[in-house]
Amino acid sequence: KKSQAWSALFSEPMSDLVKRYTSSVFFDKRLWQADITGSLAHAEMLAAQGIIAAEDHAAIQKGMAQIWGEIESGAFEWKLDLEDVHLNIEARLTQLVGDAGKRLHTGRSRNDQVATDVRLWLRSEIDLIGELLVDLQKSLVDVAEANAEVILPGFTHLQVAQPVSFGHHMLAYVEMFSRDAERFSEVRRRTNRLPLGSAALAGTSYPLNRERVAKTLAMDGVCQNSLDAVSDRDFAIEFTSAATLTMVHISRMSEELIIWMSQNFGFIKIADRFTTGSSIMPQKKNPDVPELARGKTGRVVGHLMGLITLMKGQPLAYNKDNQEDKEPLFDTVDTLKDTLRIFSEMIGGQMNAATGKKEGGISVNAEAMERAALKGYATATDLADYLVKKGLPFRDAHETVAHAVKAAQSHACDLSELPLTVLQGFHASIEKDVYECLSLRGSLNARNILGGTAPAQVRAQIARHRARLG
Ligand code: ARG
Repeated sequence: KKSQAWSALFSEPMSDLVKRYTSSVFFDKRLWQADITGSLAHAEMLAAQGIIAAEDHAAIQKGMAQIWGEIESGAFEWKLDLEDVHLNIEARLTQLVGDAGKRLHTGRSRNDQVATDVRLWLRSEIDLIGELLVDLQKSLVDVAEANAEVILPGFTHLQVAQPVSFGHHMLAYVEMFSRDAERFSEVRRRTNRLPLGSAALAGTSYPLNRERVAKTLAMDGVCQNSLDAVSDRDFAIEFTSAATLTMVHISRMSEELIIWMSQNFGFIKIADRFTTGSSIMPQKKNPDVPELARGKTGRVVGHLMGLITLMKGQPLAYNKDNQEDKEPLFDTVDTLKDTLRIFSEMIGGQMNAATGKKEGGISVNAEAMERAALKGYATATDLADYLVKKGLPFRDAHETVAHAVKAAQSHACDLSELPLTVLQGFHASIEKDVYECLSLRGSLNARNILGGTAPAQVRAQIARHRARLG
């Protein structure tokens, strides 16, 4: 009795080590729903084209329904000997329905089958990720709305630069995640095309109706070249690239949360359930979740490198190398989904069913932020702009203000704490109204330009995002 699924050609059985080395069932079994769905669409078309009998189609449907139930309930017995998810399911089908099961693979190869499965699976994961990105953006918009008027020192080079609204800062991340969502929907469009009908590499001699299968599977079209269809994994690489960018955005945010939580900043707190203590230092509450997210970004970057390297040396068409696409892709999806879920909750809080409100998101220490913004002469640019409005060329105003900052530094005070007479010593045109522009709030309100940090602009952006996110 032959021990493998393919043929009598082999004169000796595979060694156990080679079996373990070449089999993928223990990770690719995660594709089972896509595999059955793809097979059912293929079988339906085979029957419609008169390639298999209606009874065979009915038997395949019945057998697959049973297999679906067995896998769902955990009763299905996955066999290493049967190499992968495809052969495991097909063998069970044949066990259940006999010859009809053996007819399923007519006009098909595992090469176009696996390419179809991965695309179907990834499509539904992209849809989930899209929803999670909406949730995260909504959490950020909520925090932005609650903190549109809260003033944070904006940094460049991590040196105090100019005051910004904390809401504005949150909305910067909303922009990043909305571009990420756009990228995923573009990747979805190219992923959602049908390889089936390409067979092993050259197409097939059976009169298949590929468009019909694509329609059944709600795909946007069929792959137009059989060699390309079975062998390229660019959609997986593109997906991982989009995931990498999303993780990089999460990682930047993590870095900020970690800094803001440090006692030396004290700008925010995250709920205790996202932190851990220390086994030695009783006072510690560590930002483990943002730190891990920053760390896990590295592993997704690694998967992108892995996949792209996997592809680079492969001649057309299918090569077994491609079996190695799955673990990095699966781990990318798992890591991204978990991270997005955790961040939505950590930022925006958790729904309290009793009150219908979200609770336990980040808490903001507005006072600490404003105090920090007052420390680094954050309104120096505003003073320069004030002088420009009085007629000074900007370069001269810049120099004048540098002198004023130096004087304030030597008095260990803020620009707004210098008496008017002292300020007038730097330029005679300075009047009492200068104090309005030297205040944090005056500085914020002055930047009332599209994309700027004035609370009026922030509120307009919030309205735009709310309309967009639904
Ligand atoms: N498990 C294989 C994969 O993941 C399925 C396709 C195998 N095809 C083949 N001719 N060996 O790529």
